[in-house]
Amino acid sequence: MEFDLTGGEYLARAYKLLAGLVTPRPIAWVTTQDEEGRVNAAPFSFFNLLGTEPPMLGFAPGDRAPGIPKDTARNIRRSREFVVNLVDEACAGAMNLTSSDVGPDISEIELAGLHTAPSRIVKAPRIVEAPVALECTEWATLEMGENRLVVGLIHHVHVRDGILDPQTLLVNPEAFAPIGRMEVPSGYCRTHDRFDMPRPG
Ligand SMILES: Cc1cc2nc3c(=O)[nH]c(=O)nc-3n(C[C@H](O)[C@H](O)[C@H](O)COP(=O)(O)O)c2cc1C
Repeated sequence: MEFDLTGGEYLARAYKLLAGLVTPRPIAWVTTQDEEGRVNAAPFSFFNLLGTEPPMLGFAPGDRAPGIPKDTARNIRRSREFVVNLVDEACAGAMNLTSSDVGPDISEIELAGLHTAPSRIVKAPRIVEAPVALECTEWATLEMGENRLVVGLIHHVHVRDGILDPQTLLVNPEAFAPIGRMEVPSGYCRTHDRFDMPRPG
């Protein structure tokens, strides 16, 4: 099968086609603060690590309506900072709840029964229940049609005790169970069934 995305029917259905195929994707569970200090949390699976020199990541909030950013993107435009919390199996249900489309007066954090802790560098707090949290400042946000690509510089990393060896920095796969986003509309994967493959040469 082939699908032409230069225009027409399949371009209009690109989300279904591409988000179902480009899998598994990690999930950025992003916390931000609005101008009144209210904490916003939302998941984004158009997300990845972009580099380490300097340490960078990127995630892509689509606009709510043409030209109207989602709360996460709006808060970052104002404060220029955010926290990317990572999602493990234990957090999956709470993460999903925080994707609810609620107004700024309702806290997704409370809605999902979560707790926050202050960050070290940025004002937005991290999610206590998340196994890993990455404190970031906005490097740039690219606007492309109704997509925004938020590129963040990672300043500080929180890792729950037991996940990695503090000397070697190697992760213990038994202690870290991130989930991935899979097929549209609601597929996810666990990451128990891993295998090891040393690089050649
Ligand atoms: C697992 C998951 C991944 C998601 N990924 C994205 C994404 O990459 N981009 C996006 O715009 N919305 C994504 N969403 C939807 C947003 O989380 C949702 O629109 C949310 O209400 C945005 O919140 P905000 O307005 O507080 O920023 C995702 C939802 C879920 C459950």
